[in-house]
Amino acid sequence: MQHLYSGKVRDLYALDDGHLLVVASDRVSAYDHVLPTPIPDKGRVLTALSLWWFEQLEDLVPNHLVSTDVPEGFAGRAMVCERLDMVPVECVARGYLTGSGLADYRATGAVCGVALPPGLVDGSRLERPVFTPATKAALGEHDENVSYAEVAAQVGEPLAARLRALTLAVYERAERVARGRGLVVADTKLEFGRRGDGTLVLGDEVLTPDSSRFWPADQWQPGRSQPSFDKQYVRDWLTSPASGWDRSSDEPPPPLPDEVVERTRARYVEAYERLTGRRFT
Ligand SMILES: Nc1ncnc2c1ncn2[C@@H]1O[C@H](COP(=O)(O)OP(=O)(O)O)[C@@H](O)[C@H]1O
Ligand SMILES: [Mg+2]
Repeated sequence: MQHLYSGKVRDLYALDDGHLLVVASDRVSAYDHVLPTPIPDKGRVLTALSLWWFEQLEDLVPNHLVSTDVPEGFAGRAMVCERLDMVPVECVARGYLTGSGLADYRATGAVCGVALPPGLVDGSRLERPVFTPATKAALGEHDENVSYAEVAAQVGEPLAARLRALTLAVYERAERVARGRGLVVADTKLEFGRRGDGTLVLGDEVLTPDSSRFWPADQWQPGRSQPSFDKQYVRDWLTSPASGWDRSSDEPPPPLPDEVVERTRARYVEAYERLTGRRFT
């Protein structure tokens, strides 16, 4: 297999005509760094969860999955996919305000050019979900929030409109499904690509703890940061005095302690089990 690309988390290989092997590694990234310590089973959780969501979304949008029959050694953490011409836009939908959306709102009263009412706080539920696209940054750089108008200028208005409509439709479906399992999907990031004939297809991973914020619904309390099914332990430890790491320095982050690794692994597994209702084996 010809190695094509390694991102922060995934490795891409070219298979025969028009197919890719997308391999999810156990690498974990935080604050735009890939950490030196992997999280065991993370690649399998991300893959299993994406596969499950592709099924839940099948009637809304076609996806890039072709088969899970993958070469030996990759079982469970790889998918054979259609090779798409990726649209260079991170398609984000937010139903709740936090993270970079909250930062934009505090600075401007709007997120990606969408004006929001005054008085919102960290974790506020938005009256209706908003499309808040970002441009994809190079490795080590930060994605940048952009307005819908900027996306339209970049890819054309018809495609921008389809991206927005599909992203919001996927978010609304996911929000409803997750709510039934006691989880809030605060926001999610999707990537779309095009087939040779122009069909828009959902690519990459979908609705995983790496691409989405999942919050336990019964603990949701606007006005503070919410407990989350993702790399929260990693981020909290990295920014605590215990790590000895200065986020603003050029130093790479230090290895993670076993306890942080184990708790993070358990969080990923729990997200999978709660959403799908299946045991992770
Ligand atoms: N079907 C596809 N065809 C081509 N590229 C894809 C497809 N699905 C996902 N990708 C690309 O594969 C990469 C996934 O690796 P990832 O570790 O997420 O990288 P990054 O750090 O660039 O986000 C992304 O660049 C994504 O755009
Ligand atoms: Mg990615």
